[in-house]
Amino acid sequence: MPIELDNVTFRYGPQTPLVIDGMSFTVPHGQMLALMGPSGSGKSTLLQLIGGILRPTSGQINNSIPSHETTWVFQTPTLLNAQTVRHNIDIALYATGWSPKQQHARVETVIESVGLHGLGETGVSTLSGGQQQRVQIARALAAQPQLVLADEPTGQLDHTTTALVMDALIAARDAGTGIIIVTHDRYVAERCERIITLEDGHILSDEHRAEGSPT
Ligand SMILES: Nc1ncnc2c1ncn2[C@@H]1O[C@H](COP(=O)(O)OP(=O)(O)OP(=O)(O)O)[C@@H](O)[C@H]1O
Ligand SMILES: [Mg+2]
Repeated sequence: MPIELDNVTFRYGPQTPLVIDGMSFTVPHGQMLALMGPSGSGKSTLLQLIGGILRPTSGQINNSIPSHETTWVFQTPTLLNAQTVRHNIDIALYATGWSPKQQHARVETVIESVGLHGLGETGVSTLSGGQQQRVQIARALAAQPQLVLADEPTGQLDHTTTALVMDALIAARDAGTGIIIVTHDRYVAERCERIITLEDGHILSDEHRAEGSPT
């Protein structure tokens, strides 16, 4: 398994309570997994442990996916605000070794996949919050990474845009990208093939769903 957690615990400081309290599970290659649970249950912490931003206090995490094959999506986009949509996405392709022609075609494809057709030359600072979020998602998908780690990527989007973003993520999953998505949105979770629900740093449920369940 590319990602294996074995009895992982985590606390932020020596005198603070365990935020992750003995978690074990594996994530197969290319799985689309939703992490749900109440505020403070440890979802963002768990995502950062999986992505190697945090190290477990005890237990083991084996993540065999190289860090350059992992991209992140946050609730609030972090873009180069003085640059165009195209430039913000181009950045993700610098290290791929693709030709300029391949890069150009790929940027067009991901811009379209998130519903921003025709906005490539637009400055991102002039876009709406939802459009900026879609640029962030396009950038995360552009280089066809092995894994996308997304922390409430649709938290500030309306339902139509959320559905569009989920379509783009599912298309990436269908092309082989694994996706772990933290969400409070039942609709988002139900479009994933597996839902792990956390409560107080524990796994409350681990639900495997039929592939591509419609909602
Ligand atoms: N940097 C930090 N330092 C200390 N404690 C933290 C830190 N980040 C989070 N915590 C604590 O760890 C616990 C889990 O937080 P976490 O952010 O993982 O929850 P979450 O499930 O993502 O919540 P939300 O849905 O509100 O984003 C909370 O009690 C939180 O207060
Ligand atoms: Mg969080």
